[in-house]
Amino acid sequence: MAQTFSTLAVDFGTSNSAVGYAIEGQGRLIEMEAGGMTLPTALFIDSYEKKLVYGSPAQEALIAGVEGRYMRALKSLLGTALMRESRMVLGRRMDFIALFGGFLAELKARAEAATGQTFTHALSGRPVLFHSANEARNAQALVDLRECYQAAGFEDVAFMAEPAAAALANRDTLEAGDLALIVDIGGGTSDFTLFRQGAQDGIDILVSHGLRLGGTNFDREISLDQVMPVLGLGSQIRHVFGDESHAAPQSIFDDLATWQKIPFLYTHETRRAAADLAKYAEQPELLNRLVMVLEEELGHDIAFAVEAGKIAANTPNASAPPEIKLGVLERDLRLPLPAAMLMAILSDMAAEIAETAVETATMAQIEPSQVTRLILVGGSSLMGVIETALQSRFPQATMQRGSALTAIIDGLAIASASAFD
Ligand SMILES: Nc1ncnc2c1ncn2[C@@H]1O[C@H](COP(=O)(O)OP(=O)(O)OP(=O)(O)O)[C@@H](O)[C@H]1O
Ligand SMILES: [Mg+2]
Repeated sequence: MAQTFSTLAVDFGTSNSAVGYAIEGQGRLIEMEAGGMTLPTALFIDSYEKKLVYGSPAQEALIAGVEGRYMRALKSLLGTALMRESRMVLGRRMDFIALFGGFLAELKARAEAATGQTFTHALSGRPVLFHSANEARNAQALVDLRECYQAAGFEDVAFMAEPAAAALANRDTLEAGDLALIVDIGGGTSDFTLFRQGAQDGIDILVSHGLRLGGTNFDREISLDQVMPVLGLGSQIRHVFGDESHAAPQSIFDDLATWQKIPFLYTHETRRAAADLAKYAEQPELLNRLVMVLEEELGHDIAFAVEAGKIAANTPNASAPPEIKLGVLERDLRLPLPAAMLMAILSDMAAEIAETAVETATMAQIEPSQVTRLILVGGSSLMGVIETALQSRFPQATMQRGSALTAIIDGLAIASASAFD
């Protein structure tokens, strides 16, 4: 008899999303784009063709310079006031609840087309903490996310902590007596679950913990340190009267270096502010680049170049020295990013993440030396600087890698079998 499946497992990630379901108690992933189990959590409002585009095609539209608005890392907006501000999108008033809902509805539709099932319910991953210590924002983020699923047409949604899902996916790798810590470093958050193998085939979770810090923050830090200065960050602006000067104000550069804030910079006011800065700049050639980036909407092109430079610097290759390729700004503009520089820029953030991993153990009254395994998942766990910071704090643990980009959805798919029991 054909079984009916109504619960869709969804890993709605800051950078990448994935979906799965359970079939005869086994988790199974659903292909979202040709050949791939994940798709970029990206959206493009195509104002030429008057349609919304999701995933890799959104990226392609951005790169091709199609007229419209690209957005990524939107998950970071959950719990903020921006979620409920509405704006005109292709002739309709929409807020971000509706826009996220559109993305989730697209995942639902693709999953239904691929499986022939109708998914009425969702089991969604969630970061342990969306906003670190801000409790009110954490609670609001969950309210927002629930509404996004409702907007996508799900009747009900249950949530599971992302690292707990990764623990479930990795339960078979443990041996008797192991005490394991999942370290999931994604695009927007770092999440931790300390667990043991349970008596039957389940797992015993001791504690979960989290921090609002991930790969998009690494990109931001690298951009502020290396890229924004060539657009005028820190350079001197002359006063209109007199011969004094001051440093260019930081806020436009901060936003331009922050994935989720880039789309909000393309306004008349910011463009005018940048033009004013360029007019009085001691080095107008730098600020003129900022003017061009805002005029031509090149913020995401820079963010992608920074991200690619980060990954290149993390994966040394003698024949191609790592650099941030800024050909979109000027032909042949490249900024070297040697591995040692990358380490130096990110060492404080890596230390904060590793300290939060230690805190996770402490919350369960466990000494870091009692942890026998560190299981690294999430795209940013591939960063060498993270591995180094963790190793020194958990000297007794063996480090193993789960599937970097699918461990969470693997676990959610397994758990979806009983999410609404
Ligand atoms: N090879 C790599 N080396 C370093 N970082 C990488 C690599 N591949 C991907 N990343 C980074 O991993 C991040 C995305 O990871 P992942 O897909 O696990 O995040 P996510 O699940 O979307 O985010 P979150 O769980 O925080 O909501 C990005 O910041 C990306 O730059
Ligand atoms: Mg993730």
